[in-house]
Amino acid sequence: MNARSTVIAIDGPAAAGKGTLARRIANHLGYAYLDTGLIYRAVGLKTLERGADPADAEAATSAALALAPEDLKRPDLRGDEAANAASKVAAIPSVRAALLDFQRQFAASPPNGAPGAVLDGRDVGTVVCPDADRKLFVNASLEVRAARRVKELRERGVEAIHTRVLKDMKERDTRDSERDAAPLAPAENALLIDTSTLNPDEVFNLALRLVSAGRSSD
Ligand code: C5P
Repeated sequence: MNARSTVIAIDGPAAAGKGTLARRIANHLGYAYLDTGLIYRAVGLKTLERGADPADAEAATSAALALAPEDLKRPDLRGDEAANAASKVAAIPSVRAALLDFQRQFAASPPNGAPGAVLDGRDVGTVVCPDADRKLFVNASLEVRAARRVKELRERGVEAIHTRVLKDMKERDTRDSERDAAPLAPAENALLIDTSTLNPDEVFNLALRLVSAGRSSD
């Protein structure tokens, strides 16, 4: 029988640096990586494409049930339209339920025989993988996160107005934190990292120390 997969859960709000960190940790440890936000983004876009409102439970659930692997490869998943639609479909319990098995299966049996998996999102440590071996909660101030998002958008050649980005991010934070279904919150046993004043290398080194320290004391 295969050894049990080691699971690292990384949660936090938008633009806190969790995606960059999760990818780097997965590469470093040879683990598989799943960006769970992409799944919600794909459901959001699929719902919009079907001409429905992402807040419509029936339409969004039907899109979630019809999700196919190629939907996760769409080039427009990273845009703000997808982000806003994602946070609307993500508040619907039946959408979350429809997506749970796939995420748990990825964690338990990572692709290509990887010995472990890193999943990032909003509820990985609290709902998807409550028994994860390590849980990190990555955060930064709203101002810093908005400034990072503006920089990222401009680097991609997208026009971005700081006040607009800040407002959208605040709305998305509120929707994600105040919903009843799997709200954004640190798991009780999560290790907290505030990235407001750290660069990506510093975040990675700190996270690796926390993850390894935990592991060696098992
Ligand atoms: O992480 P990302 O910004 O791509 O996520 C987009 C949206 O998907 C989030 O604002 C959140 O509403 C939703 N999401 C979620 N649970 C996750 C991952 C993402 O509700 N595990």
